[in-house]
Amino acid sequence: RAWARLAAAPIRAGLRAAMGALGARFIFAPSIEAALRRAQRAAAPHRRYSFDMLGEAAFTAADAERYRGAYERAIRAVGAAIAHGGDADSYGVSIKLSALHPRYVFSQRERVMGELLPRLQALARLACHLRVPLTLDAEEAERLELSLDLLAALLADPQLRDWPALGLAVQAYQKRALAVLDYLLALARSRGCPLRVRLVKGAYWDSEIKLTQLDGLVDFPVYTRRAYTDVAYLACAQRLLSSAGWLVPQFATHNARTLADVLALADGFDGFETRGNHPGAEFQRLHGMGEPLYRCLAQRRERTAVRVYAPVGDAGALLPYLMRRLLENGASSSFVHRASHLAAAALAADPRRSAVRQAGNPHPRIARPAELFAPERRNSAGRDLSDPLQWSELMAALARSRTAPIEVRPLVASVGEMMRAAAAAVSRSAGRPIRNPADQDELIGRVYEADAPLTEQALQAAARFAPDWADSPVAMRAALLEHGADLFQREDAALVARIVREAGRTVADAVAEVREAIDALRYYAAQSRAHFDEDTRSLGPVVCISPWNFPLAIFTGQLAAALAAGNVVLAKPAEQTPASAALAVQLLHAAGVPDAALQLLPGSGGQIGMALVADARVKGVVFTGSTATARRIARVLASREPVPLIAETGGQNAMIVDSTALPEQVVCAALRSAFNSAGQRCSSLRVLCLQREIAPVILPMLEGAMRELCIGDPARLATDVGPLIDEAARQRIEAYLARRSTQVRCRTPLPP
Ligand code: FAD
Ligand code: 2OP
Repeated sequence: RAWARLAAAPIRAGLRAAMGALGARFIFAPSIEAALRRAQRAAAPHRRYSFDMLGEAAFTAADAERYRGAYERAIRAVGAAIAHGGDADSYGVSIKLSALHPRYVFSQRERVMGELLPRLQALARLACHLRVPLTLDAEEAERLELSLDLLAALLADPQLRDWPALGLAVQAYQKRALAVLDYLLALARSRGCPLRVRLVKGAYWDSEIKLTQLDGLVDFPVYTRRAYTDVAYLACAQRLLSSAGWLVPQFATHNARTLADVLALADGFDGFETRGNHPGAEFQRLHGMGEPLYRCLAQRRERTAVRVYAPVGDAGALLPYLMRRLLENGASSSFVHRASHLAAAALAADPRRSAVRQAGNPHPRIARPAELFAPERRNSAGRDLSDPLQWSELMAALARSRTAPIEVRPLVASVGEMMRAAAAAVSRSAGRPIRNPADQDELIGRVYEADAPLTEQALQAAARFAPDWADSPVAMRAALLEHGADLFQREDAALVARIVREAGRTVADAVAEVREAIDALRYYAAQSRAHFDEDTRSLGPVVCISPWNFPLAIFTGQLAAALAAGNVVLAKPAEQTPASAALAVQLLHAAGVPDAALQLLPGSGGQIGMALVADARVKGVVFTGSTATARRIARVLASREPVPLIAETGGQNAMIVDSTALPEQVVCAALRSAFNSAGQRCSSLRVLCLQREIAPVILPMLEGAMRELCIGDPARLATDVGPLIDEAARQRIEAYLARRSTQVRCRTPLPP
């Protein structure tokens, strides 16, 4: 340990020095008072500042309050500086809305409008009163509409109506940028007072691309070619310059070509001069960047105002901001990076020309979400839950699903008279009610479970059809599964509605689950094409027994693999979730999968499940569920000739966190893993092991972030955690909690 400490010392010292140097480069001052002193020392004609209090993406109410307090102090300090003889335009404050509320996301719109808006309004009124210009920074694309709603609410405030110093950053890399400017113009006109617009290109490009791919959305919200962003910036600049004074342009860039293009567009535009109360247009740069460019501008156009965006705070809160700067400066496409090694002519190349050359086509090496796995298979399409239109489609499907009760019956291939008699007997039974786990009073429908005669019929049909299916061409089976995937995609809203109502999964979880099922169908189709040929031997009838926690995805994954491999399937869904399984089977039958290749036998595990497993005609079992049941199945199978059993069972998932981890990321990952699906998945986080030194930071953050989770009806967008599956599950958890509360002792006290 001593050696390790000795070896680590220089690394630590090096890292500390590097962070110190980066901090010094990008942080303007550690406090607002120091920032104002520094700004006053560096005062120069037409030099302005906008102070940004470092800190964003609050996770807890305490963090949000701390950041709010920092902004309030900053506004008061800047206001005092202005009152003591400063020019009202010299200093301003930039705000990141994500710092002001721990749930600044579209799904929490009600809370955002009810809680964040009053905080923002109080800050804005203070700024207005003290004549401090205020700009709302632009953050992730999924927050754009929320930020516009907040801005519109501020502008409607009678106390802020005539305040000309409120502004918003607009990102030109977003395809919606021009539409946003039009909207801002309309807002400014309707309130009768100009609005400031800081035009930026956008600082979240990498994550926008990745998140869009991850969520399987139709297209990126941002451009995929550098030149398009540059041209869009100019289009936006032109729109700003022609907004007849309603939008006051603030051009933020470090790119010499962009700056020159804006100046060319602004030729004849005299708005760069401040007139009376009306501020003129200006350029902006980030502290630590763009100095040579703006020195150059100052030499040529000494009366053009330039504002420095000046981050204020300590190095602890710098990381997210620093990451963006490092990504930006390190990107091979960035102007600052290119300026370090390219000749002036290359740097000055006209982006409009390359945009025309690229003919508006997307970047060929940035895979669109649907093409992420091309050419092997098409990726499933997700839903953008921050898009009100998409959300309303899902809500309509949920409403439709409530209009008629669902009747789930066994789906058994017909083998004549006997089958009809057996099916009629099942139908005459009363059926078992299926209830919504979120509301036990809500009857979703009834399930008519398979009985012994019908199970026998299904086994006969499976055994009879197995050779035909095994002999069918691999490509045909794969095509049927792919067609099934397309039908799942077409009916995704209906599938989501069923999962939400029957399994109590949240809409977001259900959307992800439908995608997983679609991916499974396409994945196994692709795998079978790649690995099987006519000589590959199939097993014969295979029983698939699946759990309720992924009523569609695990159910579909099991049967898709078996079908692709040429096996006919007898699927026994979980007792709690037969309706989701039934819809999947109906869609696969509609896609052309023969009735005898895929049969559905709803019923209890103990009876139907075990009867199937014990039957000599069954040649394979795929099971997901508890270890105890898997053992029972294995014992039954052991009494027969060797039959393959694929069992996926539960476990204890632990997350081990050391001091190199970013606390916010730990909390985000831990909460997602522990509480998605209300913690009811085999991969849910059960044990979080923290290195002792970081526990005092992470535990309160974890607790604070847990307090912000919304528990409730999974059909509501705001809900993060839905219900447990049934009363039995609730009782098990209650009993566990009661036991733990008496057993748990903290053996080693945490350091203070
Ligand atoms: P350039 O190198 O000319 O531009 C780089 C731009 O191209 C970046 O936007 C990058 O994302 C984009 N890009 C890179 N590759 C591609 C590609 N393949 N396809 C499409 N686009 C691509 N950003 C915010 O998001 N919100 C803010 O509130 C904000 N405030 C700022 C305030 C000031 C004063 C300044 C100067 C910048 C601010 N930024 C903000 C950062 C800004 O968005 C840019 O990240 C930064 O200025 C780099 O742009 P540039 O014109 O200086 O450099
Ligand atoms: C960012 O924080 C400057 O707002 C911009 O990246």
